[in-house]
Amino acid sequence: MDRYAVIGNPVEHSKSPVIHGEFARQTGQGIEYGRILSPLDAFRETVLRFRDEGGKGLNVTVPFKLEAFQLTTTLTSRARYAEAVNTLKFEQDRIIGDNTDGAGLVRDIQNNLGIAIERKRILLLGAGGAAQGVLYPLLDQDPALLVIANRTVDRALEMQRKVEQRDVLSRTVSAQTYESLAGLSFDIIINATSAGLTDSALPIPPGIFAADALAYDMMYGRETPFMQFARREGAQVADGLGMLVEQAAESFYLWRDVRPDTRPVIEKLRQ
Ligand code: ATR
Repeated sequence: MDRYAVIGNPVEHSKSPVIHGEFARQTGQGIEYGRILSPLDAFRETVLRFRDEGGKGLNVTVPFKLEAFQLTTTLTSRARYAEAVNTLKFEQDRIIGDNTDGAGLVRDIQNNLGIAIERKRILLLGAGGAAQGVLYPLLDQDPALLVIANRTVDRALEMQRKVEQRDVLSRTVSAQTYESLAGLSFDIIINATSAGLTDSALPIPPGIFAADALAYDMMYGRETPFMQFARREGAQVADGLGMLVEQAAESFYLWRDVRPDTRPVIEKLRQ
């Protein structure tokens, strides 16, 4: 059986083994999928040992996505743009790095929630690794505009500057502070900050949700202050569980060349 695993620290809470177990059952793929707790200072050694013992691929989670990026010999273009890797595939001497987070978000919004991104006004909250991972896949869908708002506005400006350097639909991206969002309105607002982890509210001005707006929190398993605020403002609210399953499906596809059906797995996890 081909072996795969999720590697992180901490990793015991990860739902990836359950998700990939469901995918394997559903598609009849004979794989084994485990969990690896990597010491914080020995990510590289832990990955290489797994590979040398015959492991075929890894999902990479907090806090190793940047180290995984540096470990690869070959990067997909979306991983290069994200500057982070959440999926590794081992092939002979090559360590292929991919980033499926953005594709997972886009698929969840478009296929599962049925909301097109094209020509929409998007607000991306946050400018850390999570925001960086989804920025280019969102831009690929050709939104009318995409605003990045961050508490430390310099980080958002840096993301904007890179988009301009790469000349990817750069006219549509701009960086803002939270205060300067007052008076603007958006169709899709995505929370890519980690503020929900500490139950902190984001200083989002009221009135920024357009009619029928979607408020998407990339976090799952809890109702964040962002989601509560969005509900009070009348927006449609989604958490990141669908994205989690979709990014896993995208990794599974990279490894096995088979696309699993995500819907029953999302439903099962919701229960
Ligand atoms: P991740 O990989 O989860 O993106 P990160 O790189 O540490 O983690 O980034 C966390 C993001 O959440 C940042 O955009 C951070 O804002 P700053 O760049 O200003 O630090 C944002 N964030 C975390 N807690 C926040 C809070 N209480 N209010 C506003 N933004 C917050």
